[in-house]
Amino acid sequence: MRAAVFYEVGKPLVVEEVELAPPHSGEVLVRIAATGVCHSDLHYIKGDLTMPLPVVLGHEAAGVVEAVGDGVDSVRPGDHVVLLFAPACGHCRYCDSGRPHLCEMRARVRGKMPDGTSRLRLAGRDLHHFTCVSSWAERAVVPASGVLPIGKDVPLAVAAMLGCAVTTGVGAVVNTARVTPGSSVVVFGLGGVGLNVVQGARLAGAVMIIGVDLLDHRLEAARRFGATHTLNAGAGDPVRAILGLTGGGADYAFEVIGRAATVRQAVDSVSRGGVAVAVGLPPAREELVVPGPAFVLNEKTLRACFYGSSRLRDDIPRLLALYRAGRLMLDELVTASFPLDRVNDAVAALDRGDGLRSVLEMPAA
Ligand code: APR
Ligand code: ZN
Ligand code: ZN
Repeated sequence: MRAAVFYEVGKPLVVEEVELAPPHSGEVLVRIAATGVCHSDLHYIKGDLTMPLPVVLGHEAAGVVEAVGDGVDSVRPGDHVVLLFAPACGHCRYCDSGRPHLCEMRARVRGKMPDGTSRLRLAGRDLHHFTCVSSWAERAVVPASGVLPIGKDVPLAVAAMLGCAVTTGVGAVVNTARVTPGSSVVVFGLGGVGLNVVQGARLAGAVMIIGVDLLDHRLEAARRFGATHTLNAGAGDPVRAILGLTGGGADYAFEVIGRAATVRQAVDSVSRGGVAVAVGLPPAREELVVPGPAFVLNEKTLRACFYGSSRLRDDIPRLLALYRAGRLMLDELVTASFPLDRVNDAVAALDRGDGLRSVLEMPAA
């Protein structure tokens, strides 16, 4: 099969023929139909975060099951599935306490499948897996706990985004922060994930939703997704503007960029008792800093959000129900489709901030 191989920071990915071994016991072979291009992938490509290399990236995807390994009865060949980048063991302290997105397995699967081996090979050497998904490829072998079957009515490019952007963004609002009706919300960063924070806030009944970005076309998109106000952070201090608009600070602020400076702006933008949520992944050596006395005296909270604090098997079907009911805008998010061979163009488009979300789409075999 063809896959996009990432060899070295600063070099383009190479789309080439890669060997994919059949699924082991407890694993599933999926034909990838569509896979999103997310800023988390770009953080690794740029070297802001590190991974064992060479690796096949891609963690937001949907496809069709082609084969299952021994002992897999949760899906069958022909099923449409969303791929999940947090496979869960089902019996660790996190899985047992209803937080499978934090499953202990995550540390073990860095670059590998859960049994410590790889299904990806090229020229006699193993390639690394990425989050047990590695979807920038025509096919992927993944753990059975990393696929969720969905209805065949959902376009697979839309389903792909349920693998990351939608679930993370809406989940940050409803699971991590538990935004209450009537609240004021600020969202820093209006890309694929941030726009889903905006629409999550709308669904949660926030009455004031302030979108902040550097790109005017993203501010316009945020208004379509539910923002009541927008601010271009390049045009003046957004914190001062937010304190003015909200009369002293918002109830909630979400950072969906992945930079310490904007996490600090999120903390500074909330009112007394307010909650700032770090959704973006900061670079490897960056520290998040809060203002000492103001943080304590104003009783602020800074929370982190991984994967929307989601119970994926329960939350994704609910998100699909909202989409089917016309209450979650997903078709509007996919603004460009590239073939796998143009993966580097799709990554460059993400880096420039073109459109909203791009997907790589593979032709049906
Ligand atoms: N102030 C406001 N907006 C900014 C700033 C800034 N200083 N810097 C960048 N942005 C905006 C960009 O213009 C862009 O619209 O942040 C947005 C980021 O969007 P994408 O590049 O589409 O990223 P996305 O895929 O949404 O991921 C965002 O969430 O899951 C994490 O790892 C992911 O850290 C990443 C973040
Ligand atoms: Zn992502
Ligand atoms: Zn577990």
